[in-house]
Amino acid sequence: MDIKSIEKIVSLSKRRGFIFQSSEIYGGLASTWDYGPLGVEMKNNIKNLWWQDIVTSRRNVVGMDSAILMHPEVWEASGHIGNFHDLKVDCKNCKARYRADHIDISKPCARCGKTDWTEPRQFNLMLKTSLGATADSDDITYLRPETAQGIFVNFNNVVNTARQKLPFGIAQLGKAFRNEITTGNFLFRTREFEQMEMEYFIYPEDAKKQLEYWSQERLNWYKKLGVREDKLRLRSHDKDELAHYSTACYDVEYEFPFGWSELEGIADRGTYDLDQHNKHAKKKQTYFDQQNNKHFVPVVIEASAGVDRAFLTCLVDAYREEEVNGEQRVLLKLSPKVAPITCAVFPLVKKDGLPEIAEKIFTEIQTEYSAFFDIGGSIGKRYRRQDEAGTPFGITVDHQTLEDNTVTLRDRDTMEQIRIPSDQTLRELRTKLQ
Ligand code: GAP
Repeated sequence: MDIKSIEKIVSLSKRRGFIFQSSEIYGGLASTWDYGPLGVEMKNNIKNLWWQDIVTSRRNVVGMDSAILMHPEVWEASGHIGNFHDLKVDCKNCKARYRADHIDISKPCARCGKTDWTEPRQFNLMLKTSLGATADSDDITYLRPETAQGIFVNFNNVVNTARQKLPFGIAQLGKAFRNEITTGNFLFRTREFEQMEMEYFIYPEDAKKQLEYWSQERLNWYKKLGVREDKLRLRSHDKDELAHYSTACYDVEYEFPFGWSELEGIADRGTYDLDQHNKHAKKKQTYFDQQNNKHFVPVVIEASAGVDRAFLTCLVDAYREEEVNGEQRVLLKLSPKVAPITCAVFPLVKKDGLPEIAEKIFTEIQTEYSAFFDIGGSIGKRYRRQDEAGTPFGITVDHQTLEDNTVTLRDRDTMEQIRIPSDQTLRELRTKLQ
């Protein structure tokens, strides 16, 4: 059965150590979340799969890692100080704040039931901070609202060092911050999140073709994460939805329990960003085209994804409830590439030499895959825990192992168990995970 409400994901995430509420012992901080032991493994898997797909496997995309804090004029030039707004309305009675496009102001406030709204007002989403010892206005800067600007301001540096010719891409992943008016739906919209962004620099005449190419590439990446195809779609933006820098855009969307929502935007940013920095900065950034012997500003196709949204998508998409022998079984049918643990190893009992054999198998598997050793409690409960963690395989050492040197290999999805030689467990996993 598919999941109907995000609450079940929140609760499983806490129960199994994927996600905890931030600062929970102080009552929590709204819409900020911490990744626990399983969460951080799965998040790293997603980030590594993105890096592999975008950077490592391509000849003409290079990576970088720019600072979160940037010169404040970057944000003047990029248009974020002037244009990065949402319209907000406040309830005059209970002070609840909403995005104007998320509510109908002819209707009462969802929190207090009164209909007494302020006029819609512009609200800038940049998170301010100040640097240094004085709180002077000169020291004010912002936590970056997108990682992309770190790429644009380094365009010359990368061109001069990475020996790339058009078309080529620069990619990076890292934290971004936005003072969102309304947050919610767990990890979907938060004030601190991580982005995986690539800026692909091209000749202007290739813009349409490259936008189509990257939209398909990015849609396919989510399929490679194991996300069901019928829950994914590409949607072209209407003109009135476009961001201030973009002339055309596709969203990759997923059908969450709360409706179809954006995972990633693939946008034609034109020459907007480099042009803006060329107007504001002390140094100009252009590309020298050797064939035509001239400098020009290349067009950019951007693929901008959210790590946390990809993470939430994997959890929601994998969640299943089944009835097994009259009992409910909850499992995460995660792709082995994404699952935080690939294989759990269990000695059936704590005696008769079984833990020692299991320990040896565990140590060997750990050299290549993420593994978990679990000795406590009934074997049924141990299997259920790993089903909820999304662990694709379980190996159990039992008394038959002492007789014929075989162990059981259990499949998470079918619960089928086969016997394999105890010295072939790593090889068997390799075959299954090819
Ligand atoms: N550089 C372009 C850019 O930042 P965006 O559509 O504003 O475009 C890109 O953001 C992606 O970043 C989104 O598709 C989403 O996955 C993620 N994202 C944006 N705001 C977010 C938030 N408040 N919480 C979690 N993820 C967010």
